[in-house]
Amino acid sequence: MPSPTMPDLVSSSAPVVLDTPLARHVLSGLSRQPRTLSSMYFYDEVGSRLFQQIMELPEYYPTRTEFGLLSRHRAAIAAALTPVDGAPLHLLELGAGDGLKTKILLRELLSNGADFTYAPVDISPSALQELSQSLSLELPTLRVQPLTAEYTAALPALSQVPGRKAVLFLGSNIGNFLPPDRLTFLQQLARHLAPDDRLLFGFDLRKDPRHIHAAYDDSQGVTAAFNLNLLTRLNHELQADFELEQWQHFPQYDPLEGVMRSFLVSRRAQQVHVGALGKTFSFAAWEAIHTENSYKFTLPQIEALAQAAGLRVQEVFTDEQHWFADVLLAPAE
Ligand SMILES: C[S@@+](CC[C@H](N)C(=O)[O-])C[C@H]1O[C@@H](n2cnc3c(N)ncnc32)[C@H](O)[C@@H]1O
Repeated sequence: MPSPTMPDLVSSSAPVVLDTPLARHVLSGLSRQPRTLSSMYFYDEVGSRLFQQIMELPEYYPTRTEFGLLSRHRAAIAAALTPVDGAPLHLLELGAGDGLKTKILLRELLSNGADFTYAPVDISPSALQELSQSLSLELPTLRVQPLTAEYTAALPALSQVPGRKAVLFLGSNIGNFLPPDRLTFLQQLARHLAPDDRLLFGFDLRKDPRHIHAAYDDSQGVTAAFNLNLLTRLNHELQADFELEQWQHFPQYDPLEGVMRSFLVSRRAQQVHVGALGKTFSFAAWEAIHTENSYKFTLPQIEALAQAAGLRVQEVFTDEQHWFADVLLAPAE
């Protein structure tokens, strides 16, 4: 007999809520219509590996393009981030991932003799661990302060940092926010900046919708595996019973709003039990779970966003095709 205060996991329908951010998120995301799960939960160990494979795909232009533009403009970017008076620089990177492209800037700063600490932040412990290990091998003299955290959790400590801060937000991470959340996030970040601080933000620019679509629907099915891995993660971490073959990856680009949306679509009417929540969710045939937004930008939109957040665009670094931009921002005067 279970004790009166302990829920009976087998027969009770009372929720047995595992109180973690993931459990709370899944409960609210699958209880609402349309159903939504955040792309921030893609990055368990398998998800982080799959994203590294995505970055190497022929269709996935953002990494290659940003890598090229950072290589081309590395001297100008490093100079813009380094304080002229030789004061120490705190280089914070939000959502650092494997740091493939950041290493271009880190090498440039080290070779210039800049006095700086690199502080990568990522929600994925495995990505951060791999990054720290590779940095200690490849750039042994670099001072590294890694932090496993959600972006916003890393911001308050910024106000306490002496000297200049520079915040990197590379890739197209900023594109994952919905427009109102994007502005709130930037305003929140701007509150922790001093006039001499700098930001370098990656923006995937608008281009032929076919190129954008292909980048999220590659021919080898790696992006599909990446999206579906979210369900595998819920099976492992929340004792859910998603049958992966009953779900399909479906990406769609909306050229009016400039947003790539990814979905997981239920191939049939089905029920999914999430053990850690003590809850069963019913899905209709062809019902979708919205799992990712990836907004694409125009330069005037970036200018307007900066202005609304109390920032100003100092310089735009882009590639020859104008497919991607790394934008240097500073607090507005
Ligand atoms: C698309 S990858 C990009 C990685 C890297 N910035 C690049 O350009 O290659 C996104 C990274 O951000 C991390 N991430 C996603 N959402 C996050 C959040 N809300 N807080 C902290 N890290 C997050 C993921 O774990 C992943 O490593």
